[in-house]
Amino acid sequence: MDNLRPKKGGGSLLVVDDDLPARQTLEALLTGEGYEVRCAANGRMALMFAGEDPPELILLDIRLPDMDGFQVCQHLKEDPRTGSIPVIFLSGLDEVVDKVKGFAVGGVDYITKPFQSEELLARVETHLTLRRLQEQTGAQNVQLQEEIGKSKRAEEALRRAHDELEERVKERTADLASAKEQLQARLEEIEALKQQMEKENVQLREEIKLQYSHEEIVGRSEIMRKVLAQVEQVALTGSTVLIQGETGTGKELLARAIHRLSVHQGRPLVTVNCASLPPTLIESELFGREKGAYTGALTRMIGRFEAADGSTLFLDEIGELPQEIQSKLLRVLEEGRFERLGSPKTLQVSVRIIAATNRDLAEDVKAGRFRKDLYYRLNVFPISVPPLRERPEDIPLLVWTFVRQFEEKMGKRVDTISRKSLEALQRHPWPGNVRELRNVIEHAMIVSSGRTLIVNVPKPETSKGLETRNLEDMERSHILGVLEKTGWRITGSGGAAEVLGLKRTTLQSKMEKLGIKRSIP
Ligand SMILES: Nc1ncnc2c1ncn2[C@@H]1O[C@H](COP(=O)(O)OP(=O)(O)OP(=O)(O)O)[C@@H](O)[C@H]1O
Ligand SMILES: [Mg+2]
Repeated sequence: MDNLRPKKGGGSLLVVDDDLPARQTLEALLTGEGYEVRCAANGRMALMFAGEDPPELILLDIRLPDMDGFQVCQHLKEDPRTGSIPVIFLSGLDEVVDKVKGFAVGGVDYITKPFQSEELLARVETHLTLRRLQEQTGAQNVQLQEEIGKSKRAEEALRRAHDELEERVKERTADLASAKEQLQARLEEIEALKQQMEKENVQLREEIKLQYSHEEIVGRSEIMRKVLAQVEQVALTGSTVLIQGETGTGKELLARAIHRLSVHQGRPLVTVNCASLPPTLIESELFGREKGAYTGALTRMIGRFEAADGSTLFLDEIGELPQEIQSKLLRVLEEGRFERLGSPKTLQVSVRIIAATNRDLAEDVKAGRFRKDLYYRLNVFPISVPPLRERPEDIPLLVWTFVRQFEEKMGKRVDTISRKSLEALQRHPWPGNVRELRNVIEHAMIVSSGRTLIVNVPKPETSKGLETRNLEDMERSHILGVLEKTGWRITGSGGAAEVLGLKRTTLQSKMEKLGIKRSIP
């Protein structure tokens, strides 16, 4: 509080009094106390001095010549420069009404003349101290208000930031939730697909096992099951079997199966391909010859009938057998007897005959190309192998079987085959039947690198108008197609014989028979 008290020279005062002696007395008193004192003799002067250089306190006489002290005080209060200066009224009047009026117009005190100098000094000092206190408090208030304002603004900014953050967190949470949902849905889809694919693959592998446990013949179609049932039925009987079916349908496979399931299973199956040899050679091939039996027969040779004694003889492509040999064959089939070429000695054998052809033998009989009696002799137990296009349901199983075979051979691994590829494979008419399918899969396995097999199915144009063409036409166009592809190269790796899965000689005699010749441009 001490530093707020006016020190000598520390306070500026304005004394307003029209009475000169009174003014001088006051001036002397106050100056003596260290105040800086200015005096005014009337109201106008008072207002002017106060406006020019505002004092810290004003001692204001009420009775003035130009206006009364109340009016001066009013003007002072109205002026922003002087409004806050404490005004102490001085008056010789001691009436309550005037005091009330003095406070009403903004005065802070009222001193009645004559006054005691101590009282006046004490009041002046008190009001100056009060004013300074007020000013200080005011300043502190302003500062405080500012602080409050600042902290309010900061609080507001903080709240906004918090709200924004909340909003963003909400948005992000919603985003995350929907992303999570999407991810979950995708994962479920993938899982379902995986399960479906795995199920399909597992099913196929299991079914392959089932089939393998029986024989190496794959087929789950009703029609192939019937064929396999026939194979089992006839195998043990030792009866002659005639297997008919288009090229590549698996006739030889069936013949081998019959042999394996027969009483001769421990013995080798002897095979003759009737299409691969010219008539003179086929005879000696079948029945054997003595040394010198004909020109060029330098040694004695055992025929296939002798070799197959006590076992099975597979006469492949029987439809190609020359007429003159057909009758000799008939005799062996009926009596089990024959002679080697160049030998009068009759030999007796016990041979089980399985014959196969891709020709329509009944038609050949009608056309006089094949002996009727031989046909009936062979046709004791006919098995007809259906073409692959009539049993597309076997295709996936066959495909997987071949894939597994080539996996082993090529040291590759295939886990899946696209459904699309399988469907395309099932739609294809396969003029070359299972052999053609096997070749296509082998090719796909060679060129494929991943774990998913991609198969290029041959263009169906090669088998256009299939229904209206006979077997010969079909064979001709198929062989021609392959020859065009191989540039008419028959032998060697990738040659037509290999592609068609035929022996070179078989292919050549087929070409001769079907009149296939390369046209020279
Ligand atoms: N059901 C099947 N299961 C597995 N492989 C088969 C099946 N049918 C045929 N094949 C395969 O197809 C190819 C051709 O079979 P096969 O030689 O037995 O036919 P084909 O009817 O004798 O033909 P062609 O009349 O041309 O002599 C072979 O590689 C064989 O293993
Ligand atoms: Mg064959």
